[in-house]
Amino acid sequence: MIFSVLTIFPDLFDSPLRDGIVGKAIGERKISVDLVNIRQFATDRHATTDDRPYGGGEGMVMKPEPLVRALQQVRTTARPSARVVLLSPQGRLLRQDIAEELVDPSGQLILICGRYEGVDERFRRHVDDEISIGDYVLTGGELAALVIIDAVTRLIPGVLGCRASAENDSFCGNLLKHPQYTRPRVFEGQNVPDVLLSGDHHKIGEHRFLAAVRQTLQRRPQLLAGRQFSAPETALLQR
Ligand code: ADE
Repeated sequence: MIFSVLTIFPDLFDSPLRDGIVGKAIGERKISVDLVNIRQFATDRHATTDDRPYGGGEGMVMKPEPLVRALQQVRTTARPSARVVLLSPQGRLLRQDIAEELVDPSGQLILICGRYEGVDERFRRHVDDEISIGDYVLTGGELAALVIIDAVTRLIPGVLGCRASAENDSFCGNLLKHPQYTRPRVFEGQNVPDVLLSGDHHKIGEHRFLAAVRQTLQRRPQLLAGRQFSAPETALLQR
């Protein structure tokens, strides 16, 4: 999958794209990240990409022309199915189902990082989608683009060593992940639940499902509102 990122701060992407699973996915050519510096598409001497807002007010607004030119350049070589996403606090909230929707292993995602107080409204017609990573305001869309690259990359088949690790995740099926334990068996006087040492995989599965439901109920009950339980799950919950 190709991610093309339009930004005025390409250096912000250096380390996050080098390390960890995303870095490995790049090394293995499962994804590539193409950084496009919007400043190179400004036409004045100072490479200006922002200006004061019409009507007055605080801050600066990203000019539409350098953004459109940068996007046109990316589109000349883009895959036909390429999707253009603007990162902004006005977008639809990113959730696991949206990350799943964005996965396109042989396709391309063009991510546009806004800065300052936002982008000129007339640029919006050039984007297919607008996404926010949460109800707070960042100084720009770069961190949001990295969040999307990370959340989408780990869902590309073959990126995580074990396919089960993406399926058995927090938010898989709208449940938070069950609590996890590793060695030692006793830590600060707390034991690992006996069932996890039993070797009985059916029982362990049931225990984890119930622990995930309990965890979700305690921490994010609203996630359960959209969750349908299967007949065996319902039977287990009623036991
Ligand atoms: N740019 C600024 N704040 C943002 C947010 N919450 N999500 C996506 N892009 C942003």
